[in-house]
Amino acid sequence: MNEKVKKEKKETILSGMQPTGALHIGNLEGALANWVELQDDYWMYCCIVDWHSLTAIYDDTKGLKESIFQMAVDWLSSGLDPEKCAIFVQSEVKEHAELHLIFSMLITVPTLTRLPTYQDKKDKLDSYGFLGYPVLQAADICVYNANKVPVGRDQEKHIWLAADLAKRFNSTYKKTLVEPEALLKEIPLILGSDNRKMSKSFGNHIPIDFTEKQTEKRLKGFYTDPKKLRKGDPGTPEKCPIFLLQRIYSDKPDEEIAPGCRSGELGCVECKLKLSLRLNNRLQPIRDRRAELVKHPDDVWDILDTGAQRARQRAQNVMEKVRGAMKMTYRKKKK
Ligand code: TRP
Repeated sequence: MNEKVKKEKKETILSGMQPTGALHIGNLEGALANWVELQDDYWMYCCIVDWHSLTAIYDDTKGLKESIFQMAVDWLSSGLDPEKCAIFVQSEVKEHAELHLIFSMLITVPTLTRLPTYQDKKDKLDSYGFLGYPVLQAADICVYNANKVPVGRDQEKHIWLAADLAKRFNSTYKKTLVEPEALLKEIPLILGSDNRKMSKSFGNHIPIDFTEKQTEKRLKGFYTDPKKLRKGDPGTPEKCPIFLLQRIYSDKPDEEIAPGCRSGELGCVECKLKLSLRLNNRLQPIRDRRAELVKHPDDVWDILDTGAQRARQRAQNVMEKVRGAMKMTYRKKKK
């Protein structure tokens, strides 16, 4: 065990992601790489939120199990360590649903319909479950009494809502729940091959399970500064999604890439090749671990099982206090 692991952990983190299929480098550098760092310093609960994904795919669940498996494999191969954090599936810890139900009494419908995340999708998704999505998210967090939640800015309002629900619970009954806070980290901007936000749904992404060749090919097809048509033409790195990636993957982008791009000396083809080498270096160990893990699916499910057991212990403990605060413990505890 290294020094960092031995350091005493004090605070608890809950993080969650919907199992929507293979992760791409946007998810990797945006969220996962951060989680991997945090696992040394916090009690960490990493949750694959399958119930949340039902809001969109409730009538088409046949692929869900495979998506959960792939997400677990992606997390493990990216460096989440089951010795350091509990990795588990939301629906295997029923306490999330129990707290969700209790929370649903403490919030009004208009508070939920006003949320931008609801407004954005309400024409497509108008179920009761979708309206309650942030309430379930609040339960995910508060059922562990997590102090911090690593999220992007788009999720900030949901974390405020979770803190508000904890506060409301505490003032209605008895101080029981921790009011969580968002752990915001400036996430590097990652654009896809068409210069829009990298997203699986746009098909402009680089999945972390791409082969070396696929990665190189996808990069070759990337949008670049349209004014720079051939080597020799001066370019504007700030306008180029490839340069954004160079910023993440090369050591000295501002010295080794930007000046050559601006002067024209560095052509886009060469620039992309350089990036491809760097990116493939970064992804290779992940791919290798991935290949090993998919050979042993039972081991992956076992990890999720152990993770759920650990999560359940903590969640049951918190729920016992919740029921106590609400005067809803009807029986003596069995010895
Ligand atoms: N809503 C989050 C997202 O779309 C996923 C999520 C569900 C989550 N429960 C959570 C994130 C709890 C953090 C904590 O990204």
